[in-house]
Amino acid sequence: MKDIIDVKIKASKADLADCKTELLVVAQFAGAKALDKLTKALDGRLDGAITRLIELGDFKGKEADSALVYGNEKIGAKRVMLVGLGERKKATLDTLRKAAAYTANKAVAMKAGNIALALHKALGGRFGPADMAQVMAEGIYYGSYRYDEFVTETEDARADSLAVELIDSDSAKVKALSKGLASGAIIGNAQSYARTIANRPANVINPPTLAAEAKKLAKNTPGLSCTVFDEKQLTAKGMGGVLAVGSGSKTGPRFIILKYTPTNKKAAKLPTIGLVGKAITFDSGGISIKPASNMDQMKLDKSGGIAVLGTMKALAQLKLPVNVYGIIPSAENMPGGASYRPGDIITTFSGKTVEVLNTDAEGRMVLCDGLNYADKQGCDILIDIATLTGACKVALGKYMAGLMSNDNALTKQLQKAAQQSGEKVWPMPSGEEYAKEMKSKIADLKNIGSNWGGACTAAAFLKEFTGQRKWAHLDMAGVDIFEKATQFAAEGASGFGVRLLTAYLMNLTSKK
Ligand code: BES
Ligand code: MN
Ligand code: ZN
Repeated sequence: MKDIIDVKIKASKADLADCKTELLVVAQFAGAKALDKLTKALDGRLDGAITRLIELGDFKGKEADSALVYGNEKIGAKRVMLVGLGERKKATLDTLRKAAAYTANKAVAMKAGNIALALHKALGGRFGPADMAQVMAEGIYYGSYRYDEFVTETEDARADSLAVELIDSDSAKVKALSKGLASGAIIGNAQSYARTIANRPANVINPPTLAAEAKKLAKNTPGLSCTVFDEKQLTAKGMGGVLAVGSGSKTGPRFIILKYTPTNKKAAKLPTIGLVGKAITFDSGGISIKPASNMDQMKLDKSGGIAVLGTMKALAQLKLPVNVYGIIPSAENMPGGASYRPGDIITTFSGKTVEVLNTDAEGRMVLCDGLNYADKQGCDILIDIATLTGACKVALGKYMAGLMSNDNALTKQLQKAAQQSGEKVWPMPSGEEYAKEMKSKIADLKNIGSNWGGACTAAAFLKEFTGQRKWAHLDMAGVDIFEKATQFAAEGASGFGVRLLTAYLMNLTSKK
C-alpha cells in the first residue's frame, strides 16, 4: 500500500527574489492598486512580468485564483505563483489557510517537490506570525492530501513528498513562524491521518481493525492510553446499545476508550473533557435497509469517531495540559439473521430502555452508551460528534455542522473554535418538545421521533444519557465528505472535527 504524501514544513530566512525553489508563492488581494514592496522587487527582476499579467487582466486576486510566471536567471525560483486572497476587508486567518490549501493542491498537481511560501506577507500586521504559520501549515496538509493507497496502476504517478518553506527576510519573524508552524503541522498531520482512516473502506476498517488502529496510535503516542471492550466485555458491562447495532455483522462491535493524561500538573485544575464519536464502520441501515444509491458513502459513517481519534493524536502531540477521554463506540450496522429488529426493546448501559422503531437510527444507539460511559467516568464536559441524521444535512447543507447544547458558554466556546479553525457550526434547537416525541409507551424511549426535525429529536434522545453534565452535540452528517474534489481539497473524507475540537481544547488551555 502506498503512503500518503509526506509533507515537510519549515520556516527559513530568505529573500523573495533569491530563494531557490521550484515554486515561489506570493499572495495578492483582489483589486489591489499596486504591488507590495517585496513583490515589486521580484517583479523588477522579472522585467515587469507580474505587472504585465495584472495589467492584461489575467489575474485579479480573487479567492481560489492564481497566475503563473516563469523564473529567469535573475531570480532563484523556477516559477512564481500569484495566489488571490479575495477582498482585503473580508480576510481572516481562514483566508490564509485556504490560500495555503489551494497552493498545496496546485503544487501536487504540477508535481513541484519543493515550494517556498510568502503568503503571509500580504496580510501584514493584521495577524501574529505564529497564528499565520499555524493556519498555513494546516492548509498545506489539507490541500496536498490525496487518498490513493489502493491505486496500483497509474500512468501519472504523484510525488511522494512535498517540502515546504515559509520564508521571511526578518529573523525574529522566522522564529515566531517556526513556533506556529510546529502546532499547525501537528494538527494538519492529525487531520490527514483522520482522513485516511475515514477513507478506508468497510472491508478494511471494521470495529476490530479500528480498535487495533487506536491501540497502535496510543502505543506510538506518549500520553495516550487505549482500552478496548470486545463483545464479551460489552455483554458483561451491559452496553446493550452498542451490542444491538453490532449484532448483525460478522465483525463484532468494539468500545474504544482513549485516555490522554498530560505530564503537566496544572491539568488537575482543568475540567476533564469527554469526546464521544460515532464510529459506524458501515451503515447499511440494517433491517430497515437504506436505498442502494450512494450507499457506498456510508463507509464514512465512522467519521465522528475518527474526528475523535485524530483530535486525541493532535492533543497528545501538542501536550495540552488537560485531561481528555476519547470514547469511540464502534459497530457495523448490517442486516442478517442475528441483527436487531424494529420492535426490539434494548436495555442500554444507563439502564434506560429503548424501543427500536428503525434500525437505521443506529448512531444514537451507540452514542447513548458512549455518553453514559463518559458521564460515569466523571467527565465534566461531554462533546459528541457524529454523522447522525440526514435531516441535519437537509437543514444545513454541506458547509456546516449542527450544534446543539444544554450550556450557553459551551456553545460560545465551540462557535469560537469553529471560527478559528474554519470548520463551521450552526446552532440548532433541541429541548423538551423534541424530547417528548422520543417517549415510548412500552419502553423509556423510542429511537425515532415524528417525521419532522429529525436532527433535533436525535439530539433530544442523546441528552437523556448525559446525566447532569454540560454537553454539546455536533451533527456532522453534511460535512463528512467532499463528493467532488474542490480547489482546496481532494474528494473523499473531509477530516471535519479534528481542527474544530483541537482549537476548542487549545483555547481551554491557553494562558491568554
Ligand atoms: N448515518 C446516517 C445519517 C446520514 C445520512 C449521514 C446521510 C450522512 C449522510 C444515520 O445513521 C441515519 O441513517 N439516520 C436516519 C435516521 C432516521 C431513521 C430517523 C436518517 O437520517 O434518515
Ligand atoms: Mn443509519
Ligand atoms: Zn448512521
